[in-house]
Amino acid sequence: MNILRKYKLPEGFFLGAAASAWQTEGWSGKKDGQDSYMDLWYKETPELWHEGYGPTVATDFYNRYKEDVKLMKEVGLEAYRTSIDWSRFLTNYETIEVNEEAADYYNKLIDEMINNGIEPMLCLEHYELPAELFKKYGGWGSKKVVELYIKYAEEVFKRYSHKVKKWFTFNEPIVIQTRVFLDSLRYPFIQDTKIAMQWNYNKILASAGAIKVFKEGGHSKDGGEIGIILNPDVCYPRSSAPHDKEAAEKFDLFFNRIFLDPSVKGTIPEELIDILKENNCCFEYTEEELKIIKENTVDILGINLYAPTRVKARENAWNPRTPFHPAYYYDKYELQGRKMNPYRGWEIYPKLMYDFSMRMKEEYGNIPWFIAENGMGVEKEDLNKNSEGIIQDDYRIEFISEHLKWLLKAVEEGANCRGYMLWAFTDNVSPQNAFKNRYGLVEIDLKDNRNRRIKKSGHWYKKLSDSRELEATDFTFEYK
Ligand code: BG6
Repeated sequence: MNILRKYKLPEGFFLGAAASAWQTEGWSGKKDGQDSYMDLWYKETPELWHEGYGPTVATDFYNRYKEDVKLMKEVGLEAYRTSIDWSRFLTNYETIEVNEEAADYYNKLIDEMINNGIEPMLCLEHYELPAELFKKYGGWGSKKVVELYIKYAEEVFKRYSHKVKKWFTFNEPIVIQTRVFLDSLRYPFIQDTKIAMQWNYNKILASAGAIKVFKEGGHSKDGGEIGIILNPDVCYPRSSAPHDKEAAEKFDLFFNRIFLDPSVKGTIPEELIDILKENNCCFEYTEEELKIIKENTVDILGINLYAPTRVKARENAWNPRTPFHPAYYYDKYELQGRKMNPYRGWEIYPKLMYDFSMRMKEEYGNIPWFIAENGMGVEKEDLNKNSEGIIQDDYRIEFISEHLKWLLKAVEEGANCRGYMLWAFTDNVSPQNAFKNRYGLVEIDLKDNRNRRIKKSGHWYKKLSDSRELEATDFTFEYK
């Protein structure tokens, strides 16, 4: 028997859940020419999306948000994060012509949440780059897109910043270009490291630019805060030997520090720029842009943590015919005996919450931050219902408990983590995996009109939120 302990949620520590516009809203209300990059990717290769599902209907949140806000209360959320879909919000991305119907929808959604005691947190880009800007300018590879995004951000702040107090410039800004241009896993299947790096840099610049207009526009008054949501891959070397440690340091440089450093410290690591220059794939930048980045760092960070990454020094020589890739420095490594989520193929290692928290404290000035996503995607959950039709997702309760427990330990030791948001509130559409792995506290029943039903974990989350007391195993390992 494992020993169970009670852990108190500290005062002011919030509990919430997250999702994004494109993964929930569906295309309802979108006009011709309002596709996002995600819509375009799905339209170009629908056969590669799990069982053919994509963002078309998603959870139909656009039409059913009132019902969903009620459910947010029923599962105990204090805050809900979603995004504004840039491609929906504007009808002309260059002249910043607003789609008033969409603006009205977001306005009503915000009011509905506030009236129900749920704090809205909004992100300006959760991969919803307008497809038109992707096709016309090459997306984030272009500084023109940076300029248009800042104008879009300014318009959004003007309309809603008197009601919404937590803003985020991007969600996981590294992801799309890494999958598309570095690893060539997604449409349009191009490999070009320099383009990937330009996207990284331009998003760093765009984030700083949006923070600048937020501050200059006076949107920080009355407690308005702006930040970015990053997905650092907490990285562990196979061994303490220098070659393995170097592999982890290089991985960290290319996938974590690349966004953490400019967002928090206002600087892009010199070592990164040197390596990119040596390999002829450095991004184009100017001193004036670096100054904008330096002067416009975040107020708060949202951090998405799911699974650890383990690396070791490369065992085989690099193929000189392949273009430069950070994997020049490392191989991925699988720890024997690790616990896995087999559906998503991710290791489960709750202590990563603590390790990352300590890093924020020691290396990033302990600025305010929170867990913006953490969760467990599981396939075929509907086979796991009780006689009343409620999904019995005890594994999710255990997953949350174990991660939250390590996070609370870190807070006790001085980490400045302000809250925890689960991915996700309801099941929703994953990139390419669509509805395969379910993440929600609330089930979306695809066989029955996308009806909603709270899972066992949703009822449990409500109790946690009301009692503000987590029951989880003690830290001592039980030998059997
Ligand atoms: C995060 C993203 O990476 O992880 C979400 O912000 C995503 O958009 C979530 O859905 C879970 O990953 P996946 O690929 O299983 O959907």
